Amino acid sequence: MTTRHFLDLSDAGGDTIAAMLSDALDRKTARKSWPKGKADSDAPLAGRVLAMVFEKNSTRTRVSFDMAMRQLGGSALILDAGTSQLGRGESIADTARVLSRMADAIMVRTDDHAKIEEMARHATVPVINGLTDRSHPCQIVADLLTAIEHRKALPGLEVAWFGDGNNVLHSILEAAALMKFNVRVATPAGYEPEEEFIEMARAAGCTVTLTQDAGAAAAGADVIVTDTWVSMGQADTSEKLAAMQQYRVDTALMARAKSDAIFLHCLPAHVGDEVSEEVFEGSQSVVFDEAENRIHAQKSVLLWCFGLLG
Ligand code: CP
Ligand code: NVA
Repeated sequence: MTTRHFLDLSDAGGDTIAAMLSDALDRKTARKSWPKGKADSDAPLAGRVLAMVFEKNSTRTRVSFDMAMRQLGGSALILDAGTSQLGRGESIADTARVLSRMADAIMVRTDDHAKIEEMARHATVPVINGLTDRSHPCQIVADLLTAIEHRKALPGLEVAWFGDGNNVLHSILEAAALMKFNVRVATPAGYEPEEEFIEMARAAGCTVTLTQDAGAAAAGADVIVTDTWVSMGQADTSEKLAAMQQYRVDTALMARAKSDAIFLHCLPAHVGDEVSEEVFEGSQSVVFDEAENRIHAQKSVLLWCFGLLG
């Protein structure tokens, strides 16, 4: 079997993502109320170690991958740019080859997507994208899981995005292509997602609507989703913040969506900016289910990478 890297959702494909979601739900149900660090009864990754490389900050990705490995019977370790030789200029190629000798899989959070592609080219163990400037596929597996748990069938779902056309939105568009849902994208002019991702979803038959009218994007939507206006590594300019003001998800915007619509945010949130406190803390907000689901989603991603699923 060729090494299974998970750099983007398309590496797995729609059928595999469906299998991941099903497995994640089964495992989550089977261990309900168990201590969080207790291994699943089959401990399928016993003896396996995940090396996690962080060139950017993280709370959820870091903790959820660690907990995912524990629940699968394995373990994880962390290298950060500040204290590893990667931060002193050791090449990605050499780092990939060393980590492949010492660990069973590598998770990377970095800026330039080309860096994770280079890591995958030189690694002989699976490489997983824990976020790059281009995409955040693991987050979206958790988001799909959260939508399904809240009784949203994916095919034909109307997902509405507000704010910055960023890495998280790119992975939502890629997921739309694979799982056949539609995406309304409301951004200020100049902050649209990359064309490649819009085309990917449209080529798969999905409806992708780009608009500067937030109310129109929200009308009748099943899922309302936003993210920080300023991603890690981006400039925090007053022009951008001014342009984003009319894309805040507030109660008036939520009221335009279906009455049973859910609100998603990958977190960390800047309450008062991209989302109002009323929406963030409100009954339609499922952001902490979404955060917890990072563990359950990543377990399935790991199992696929190790050839144990899909
Ligand atoms: N959503 C997410 O990836 O969170 P972290 O940046 O805390 O990992
Ligand atoms: N778009 C955000 C996601 C953080 C999880 C960022 O890249 O900073």
